[in-house]
Amino acid sequence: MMERKPLIAGNWKMYKTSAEAAETAKALLNLVADVRDVDMMIAPPFTALAAVSEVVKNSNVGLGAQNFFWEKEGAYTGEVSAPMLVSAGCRYVIIGHSERRQYFGETDERVNKKIRAALQAGLIPVFCVGESDSERESEKTFYVLDKQVQNGLKDFSSDDLTSLVIAYEPVWAIGTGKTASSIQAQEVHAFLRTLIEKKFENPLANSLRILYGGSVKSDNIAELMAMPDVDGALVGGASLKAESFARICRF
Ligand code: PGA
Repeated sequence: MMERKPLIAGNWKMYKTSAEAAETAKALLNLVADVRDVDMMIAPPFTALAAVSEVVKNSNVGLGAQNFFWEKEGAYTGEVSAPMLVSAGCRYVIIGHSERRQYFGETDERVNKKIRAALQAGLIPVFCVGESDSERESEKTFYVLDKQVQNGLKDFSSDDLTSLVIAYEPVWAIGTGKTASSIQAQEVHAFLRTLIEKKFENPLANSLRILYGGSVKSDNIAELMAMPDVDGALVGGASLKAESFARICRF
């Protein structure tokens, strides 16, 4: 089996002014300066990208955005494009987060367009999928994930997707303190990897990093990371403080 370098990503959601974000980023850099065997990323709000970019440039922490619009430019009031994120210093972008699907009308079709635009701009897409509580209760988890992956990755070749990262984020575990057990996470991650293997090829399935997200904390990260198909984490609440995020990065 191929070695996959773990990725620990922090999603700061709609928290922190640019001054607060820069301060947290500085504190984080100090705490993880010697971490080499894990890729790390933080995704502050748009307004803090420039300030955080100044802090993390030339460091071992990458910068990510939480969303964008797929057109390069145009009359799209209120939107930000992938090339704009690149120019702000981003290397990663989160796409299809469940909060965007739930509150902002993000659909699989839009997610597909965003993945394409992100790749074209040279950004690493962190493509989020996950089932809701009721979908899990009614045993539709695999059906829902299959649909999200098939539609989200429609019309791509495996060569297009070499940098792709998938984040499995069960909606019932996000911000609820209810983490999926490591067994539940492994079951879904293995399912997703097999899905990618069937849809594309073995090399992509083997090299693909699949992150787990949903109430990841310093006290459950090690157990999750011990699973063979868990290649990292997408962390919300516990990424907002430098100390707790650093502990997770050092799982
Ligand atoms: P959480 O959020 O860690 O606060 O549950 C995870 C996410 O939404 O990415």
